[in-house]
Amino acid sequence: ASGTDYQAEDAVITQGAVESNHAGFTGTGFVNLDNVVGSAAEFTVTGGGTRTITVRFANGTAVARPMDVLVDGVRAGALSFPPTGAWTTWQTLSLQAQLGTKIKLVSTSADGGPNLDKITIG
Ligand code: GCU
Repeated sequence: ASGTDYQAEDAVITQGAVESNHAGFTGTGFVNLDNVVGSAAEFTVTGGGTRTITVRFANGTAVARPMDVLVDGVRAGALSFPPTGAWTTWQTLSLQAQLGTKIKLVSTSADGGPNLDKITIG
């Protein structure tokens, strides 16, 4: 896959922590967001125009975890991250959005977000 990667462990984390206890992540770890509405990871990116934002994640539970996607503070879309079967099984989910410089993934359920490995701007 082509594009520019932004590791979640480099993002600004609101209510969460960088961890590395579930294998299969890229970079040096992943972000485990707290299981609350509003837990978030904000990535600083470069580039403009309508682009594909791909999120690499794991969800070892049986329930999808929805998040809003904010670009420069404005809700640009939403993603519902399905179960991946295990916390060590990572998948990707994408959406298209008009880029700015800040992409923020915000948990919208009390389960919080999935574990986040990275985003790729394609
Ligand atoms: C487990 C798992 C974490 C995950 C958490 C969750 O504790 O080890 O990596 O973030 O569940 O439900 O969010």
